[in-house]
Amino acid sequence: MIVSKPALILGIESSCDETAAAVVAGGERILASVVASQLDVHGKYGGVVPELASREHLRAIVPVVRECLATAGVGLENLAAVAATSGPGLVGSLLVGLTYAKALCFSRNLPLIAVNHIEGHIYAVLLEAKHSGISVEYPAVALVVSGGHTHLYEVSGQMQYRLLGKTRDDAAGEAFDKVAKLLGFGYPGGPVIDMLAPYGNPKNVCLPSAKLKGNPLDFSFSGLKTAVLRWAEAQNMEAEIAARKALLRSHPRPTAEQWLALTPQRTLDLLASFQNRVIEELLRRAIRTLEETGARSLILSGGVACNRGLRSAASQAQIPAPVYFPSPGLSTDNAAMIAAAGFAKWQRGEFADFSQKAEANLALA
Ligand code: KG4
Ligand code: ZN
Repeated sequence: MIVSKPALILGIESSCDETAAAVVAGGERILASVVASQLDVHGKYGGVVPELASREHLRAIVPVVRECLATAGVGLENLAAVAATSGPGLVGSLLVGLTYAKALCFSRNLPLIAVNHIEGHIYAVLLEAKHSGISVEYPAVALVVSGGHTHLYEVSGQMQYRLLGKTRDDAAGEAFDKVAKLLGFGYPGGPVIDMLAPYGNPKNVCLPSAKLKGNPLDFSFSGLKTAVLRWAEAQNMEAEIAARKALLRSHPRPTAEQWLALTPQRTLDLLASFQNRVIEELLRRAIRTLEETGARSLILSGGVACNRGLRSAASQAQIPAPVYFPSPGLSTDNAAMIAAAGFAKWQRGEFADFSQKAEANLALA
């Protein structure tokens, strides 16, 4: 009997501020996953600077792919295909990864697969589930929450998506980043707020929940961010904010102890309240969608899915279906998720050609 080896897909991701490459076998086993973060470049600007991001991708793409193939012990001749993110994201950043993938495919006569970044985030969960022998049952609901997206989908079967709701202004991760920035905690905000929120009491600061007309499954986080800003202004927090900014200049990644020494209890309460409010907004809509659609599983992915408060709230809430999170390393941007989605497309014979464009606003559904 001939046993065929699982197909190896090289995934390439460069949609925002991470240059990443991964080799995944059979859509489930990660042989290597390399992520070069640009945090040190963008951190001092308090957010991603698109021109700098493209330049850093250009610097990193070749060494990252080489390191990835070397770690996996795989040559280009062993690959079944190359999958690259084609959107959504920063167009200059996307172009670097996509063009490099095209060049590899052209020179080695390999098929090219174009992957939607949001679908990649969903496949981060499906990859790990498949590897653990868990079958995520359809129809599923997928909530992708990251720095660029807060999108709620019904997933009726493999690669079948229907958009049910999305943010009307800021993405959830963007709200974490903006709140952290305005309070002097630097960029990115999610991990810092996640780290400090457990020290605060969310009941001590009352922040509004979004009241939207129209689609009840849409999200809005800009009002919450403004409420945090107004609260901070009313509390005269300039001195503590300046002290935290000074800390960031001398220590790019302060520890919890260093932050706590410069953060009064009222500010910790504010962070806890903000995080709680975001979690409530996310889970309320996810639960409502599960109830209305009768879906059999909930997939929660994207950078914000790293949030420990969100994970713990999801485990305690009455959620009418099993909830699947990716492990933290696969929640934020990586290329293993792109390779896994690429494998599903490879199986379906969905290939791209060399005219494939990078699309900043590419929709999944
Ligand atoms: O998925 P991702 O790496 O990139 C995008 O596709 O946007 O997500 C990055 C976002 C950032 O906004 C970051 O602040 C947020 O995810 N994030 C978190 C946490 N870790 C990263 N938000 C809340 N809690 C975290 N632990
Ligand atoms: Zn992402």
